[in-house]
Amino acid sequence: LERFRVIAHKPDISFIQLLPEHGVLTLADVRDAIQAVGPTPRERPYTIVNFVASVDGRATISGRSAPLSDEGDRALFHTLRESVDAVMAGTQTLQVERYGRLIKDPDARRRRVERGLGAEPIAAVVSRSGLVPYEIPLFSEPEARIVEFTGASAPRPVSAQRELVLLDPDEVTLPRVMQQLRAEFGVRTLLCEGGPTLFGSLVAEDLVDELFLTLTPQLVGGEGNPAIVSGAPLPEPVELRLRWILERDGSLFLRFGFRR
Ligand SMILES: NC(=O)c1ccc[n+]([C@@H]2O[C@H](COP(=O)([O-])OP(=O)(O)OC[C@H]3O[C@@H](n4cnc5c(N)ncnc54)[C@H](OP(=O)(O)O)[C@@H]3O)[C@@H](O)[C@H]2O)c1
Repeated sequence: LERFRVIAHKPDISFIQLLPEHGVLTLADVRDAIQAVGPTPRERPYTIVNFVASVDGRATISGRSAPLSDEGDRALFHTLRESVDAVMAGTQTLQVERYGRLIKDPDARRRRVERGLGAEPIAAVVSRSGLVPYEIPLFSEPEARIVEFTGASAPRPVSAQRELVLLDPDEVTLPRVMQQLRAEFGVRTLLCEGGPTLFGSLVAEDLVDELFLTLTPQLVGGEGNPAIVSGAPLPEPVELRLRWILERDGSLFLRFGFRR
């Protein structure tokens, strides 16, 4: 089973909550928690980042996240997707993980509509170079709703529903993308699914509100396996505030808020 491609997970999965108090947390509780986030900034979407990592903080094993993931992580990954207006992933992640339609489970689409969300979250694609992996299933999926910010002058046609925001390459900045997603595309909640390069840039620009981090009980090592944040060093360490710790099958599910 792949982290990004699973269609339906067991709907009755639950986690042991260790903090802030001892108890049991279900996927429905996670959906409610995301529904209740806020206050939503007016100038950009409320932004949640999700990663899975080994205990030594590596985001891949041989270039893929799937071997790090387990059933609880996959369930949380898809529950977060189900709970937001839009999903953003870096172009490398789109390519490596071969993104397709974001919500494949009809029950999840129905629950979204019942909560007042669109049946399908917007897929936000951002590229300064225009090197976008158009060959992945996402771009030929008629149900997909894509907003693509690109520095390319003539992006390739696609059969998915796509709104293009054509910019000069140096105008494709994350603050601008976030501002436009909020103001022009009505995105109040955004889930960023990585990768480490995009996450590093979002953090450097102070555009992240929360991090959901699954820690699986593995040590990975290897210089080729990046940490969850990569790219240019951050100007200074970023302080996080622990909001909950869940456990399932030996994996820990940490939820952090960004202090500001
Ligand atoms: N463990 C996990 O949870 C997890 C999650 C996601 C991905 N991954 C793994 O991470 C790897 C891919 O991550 P990655 O770090 O190589 O790439 P990435 O973050 O997925 O994508 C980076 C690309 O995003 C585009 N981008 C647009 N604006 C950007 C900006 N302001 N700053 C940075 N990037 C921007 C860039 O394309 P332009 O140069 O065209 O602008 C850049 O090349 C894969 O191996 C994947 O499996 C793991």
